[in-house]
Amino acid sequence: METKLLTEFYHLDDFRGLNGYKANGGYAMLAKALKMQPQQIIDEVKASGLRGRGGAGFPTGTKWGFLPKNNEPRYLLCNADEGEPGTFKDRLMMERAPHQLIEGMIISSFAISSKKSYIYIRGEYDYPYQCLVEAVQEAYKAGYLGKNILGSGFDHDMDVYRGAGAYICGEETGMISSLEGLKGQPKLKPPFPAVQGYLRKPTIVNNVETLAAVIPILRDGATAYRKYGTEKSPGTKLFSLSGNVMKAGNYEVPLAYPLMDLIMKEGGGLRPGRKLKAVIPGGSSAPVLTAQECTQATLDYECLAQMGSMLGSGAVIVIDDSQCMVDLLGVLMHFYHHESCGQCTPCREGTGWLNKITHSILEGRGRLQDIDLLLRVADNMKGRTICALSDAAALPVISFVSKFREEFEFFVREGRSKVKGTTYAEMHY
Ligand SMILES: Cc1cc2nc3c(=O)[nH]c(=O)nc-3n(C[C@H](O)[C@H](O)[C@H](O)COP(=O)(O)O)c2cc1C
Ligand code: SF4
Repeated sequence: METKLLTEFYHLDDFRGLNGYKANGGYAMLAKALKMQPQQIIDEVKASGLRGRGGAGFPTGTKWGFLPKNNEPRYLLCNADEGEPGTFKDRLMMERAPHQLIEGMIISSFAISSKKSYIYIRGEYDYPYQCLVEAVQEAYKAGYLGKNILGSGFDHDMDVYRGAGAYICGEETGMISSLEGLKGQPKLKPPFPAVQGYLRKPTIVNNVETLAAVIPILRDGATAYRKYGTEKSPGTKLFSLSGNVMKAGNYEVPLAYPLMDLIMKEGGGLRPGRKLKAVIPGGSSAPVLTAQECTQATLDYECLAQMGSMLGSGAVIVIDDSQCMVDLLGVLMHFYHHESCGQCTPCREGTGWLNKITHSILEGRGRLQDIDLLLRVADNMKGRTICALSDAAALPVISFVSKFREEFEFFVREGRSKVKGTTYAEMHY
């Protein structure tokens, strides 16, 4: 069942504006937080076990604790790039509740003693961008941003920065470079942004949903937050459900929710007459699960990792038996090849070759040995690059080919899709 710690008021049209937000408890937690010691807030977030909702699931309180203990300026950077295919939860949050994100960011900034924060929003998100800009202006006028916020002596400024449509600018160090006006290319870690980030100063990068989750944690306390989910994956999470499902959309459920319940109950099941074939459980970078595996899967970091996949950004893409896995892999490989920033040879060349080989199979020019070549190229791309995009391209290939090999072999032998019965050209033109 949906459990709405973050999304309770999202159905109200006026929740977007300051008045509607305040009428439903908005900014009450900011007032409470400003009377606390910053360390108390960090301790509460640590105790809640909140894990970053941007993809890697790193514990938020622990990340905040990495900031050096000196008086250097610190920055908070909200990652609103949301480029992972299948993910559209941050967009909902920014459209329906921009003040919730702003409140979560001011509280988090107070906790980490940051006087300046940025929201880096994906270039294509025009309407959410407008919602955020309006909300930031409203927050300044109401005294929630600027000097001496609510008479507390705490000063904080916030800017909204628009990206230019590059997936790689969602990677935190690429995002920092982009914000600095440089090419959006990732940097080797360490140093991690918490030690040396924006303008070489300590910087915390957190996802939209992570920062908003600080509000219910402060409101209800860490213990109440931990009532949802599991010991290692506590709380609720928004899942973006898409693909071959009747009711695609965003659903907030407790972590460890059964994957099949999300599809069948919240999502209303599959289209009439269709059978489940596979699910990509955590955005396009997550290895695909077969229908059989889906029956065992729960939506938490541990279960999906044990199954060889990942929770990632929480984008659940449902694939029914009308879909051709070779065709789907072609779409993914085109994406990763296009989005590789090109700095690392295994990624630049590897994504290019994966795209070429998959498309040569799709276009009827494949050889049986190309199927193993896909696996070999993917294997050589893992764990050898500056950022995780290379792995994100390689892992889906390995799972698609190993779990649906007969579809790849059929395509090579017959020059057409086993599922659709048609050639690639007939499928698309
Ligand atoms: C290629 C790539 C793309 C990423 N895109 C996003 C993104 O769009 N949004 C996001 O929040 N995190 C993204 N991340 C993860 C960020 O680097 C970072 O881990 C995250 O923003 C940290 O926030 P969190 O701790 O709140 O999850 C991406 C990572 C990689 C490697
Ligand atoms: S892994 Fe790919 S995207 Fe990441 S830095 Fe290297 S070339 Fe760029």
